Amino acid sequence: MELDDCIREWGELANEYKTLEATNSSYLDSLENLEQMQEQCTKQIKHQRYQMQNIFKNIKLCTKNKKLTSEEKDKLAEFEKNILKRKAQLHEIEQGLPQKNSLYLKIILGDVNVSILNRSDKVRYKDDYEKFKLILNVIGLFLSFLNIVINYRALELVFIFLLVWYYCTLTIRESILKVNGSRIKGWWRLHHFISTVSAGVLLVWPQSETWQLFRTQFMYFNVYISLVQYMQFGYQKGVLYRLKALGERHDMDITIEGFHSWMWRGLSFLIPFLFVGYLFQAYNAWILYKLASHPEATWQIPVLSILFLILFIGNTTTTMLVIPQKLRGRIKERYRLMSLSWALKARQHNKEEKMKPEQSGLSNECDKTK
Ligand code: COA
Repeated sequence: MELDDCIREWGELANEYKTLEATNSSYLDSLENLEQMQEQCTKQIKHQRYQMQNIFKNIKLCTKNKKLTSEEKDKLAEFEKNILKRKAQLHEIEQGLPQKNSLYLKIILGDVNVSILNRSDKVRYKDDYEKFKLILNVIGLFLSFLNIVINYRALELVFIFLLVWYYCTLTIRESILKVNGSRIKGWWRLHHFISTVSAGVLLVWPQSETWQLFRTQFMYFNVYISLVQYMQFGYQKGVLYRLKALGERHDMDITIEGFHSWMWRGLSFLIPFLFVGYLFQAYNAWILYKLASHPEATWQIPVLSILFLILFIGNTTTTMLVIPQKLRGRIKERYRLMSLSWALKARQHNKEEKMKPEQSGLSNECDKTK
């Protein structure tokens, strides 16, 4: 190749670079526009919520100590329904907007944006979280079973270290899920923080007679918990699949009522196993409490006893509250699901609308070639 050829190619590349610059500048403009629109949406959501609160307060004042006619009662009921629906719609719109990190995430990750703006990416992230739990549970089940069969310190430590890492990772993933609109209850997140601490305390519990007395029971407990978590995975996977189907299917053959009846069936199967697990936690707390008076007892024993007791109380109360909450929140949940399917459908419709001009463009091209 001659020098002139190289210079000519460089000239061509320089022209292509100009196109790249133009594309980049229009990309930066769109990005700026996007940020402005995100800010506008956030402001409008705030305004909607503020006005809704005001209207709600005024309605309460108007109806206080007043005997309502049946027509007024109907109007009020309709109004309350609309408020619930609007709240669900606002929540749905918010899902497409960036959110601020929690303090915990800021400390761990720094001030990085972890908002996932696309609905299907959110679902994928949640799916990934459930799969992560499943894989680690299978490994945990295998290791705890191995520890029952073989009493070897290094193997024990590998398992307990895995528990510390697993629960710590869960707290980070759950905080990211929370930023992205998950309604995971504070207790379950706290539960995983406490579990991280418990595993840390187990890791520094020295080899002694007391540890040997508790060890086998602890490994059996882990085998049971891993099996229960496998059932939980089945339930959560089913919820995710049905929510997706509810929003994406055109024929809506999985209805909201169908979703609820499936959910109740899943819960009534799972809950007895959960409560046996909680009783196991109480039993661990009791055995550790008794071990605390052993002559060789170290500080880890009473601390773990208290931690297991806290887990037992917290888990039992939260799970017992879930059922009445789900019954009471039936209407609220219904609107959340309806609004979810409404949002997904609107997005699908927009996509189809955008495709139309392209398709008609294509058909014009075809006509021309004909
Ligand atoms: N860990 C992590 N996330 C949880 C959770 C848990 N234990 N329980 C519920 N969530 C999540 C749900 O996936 C849902 O997330 P989303 O908003 O992103 O869709 C959100 O929290 C709201 O869930 P909710 O409607 O309150 O409950 P559910 O129907 O999903 O699940 C239970 C109800 C009772 C099955 C569930 O809370 C559970 O499995 N609890 C037991 C956990 C436990 O005891 N673990 C220790 C084993 S001994």
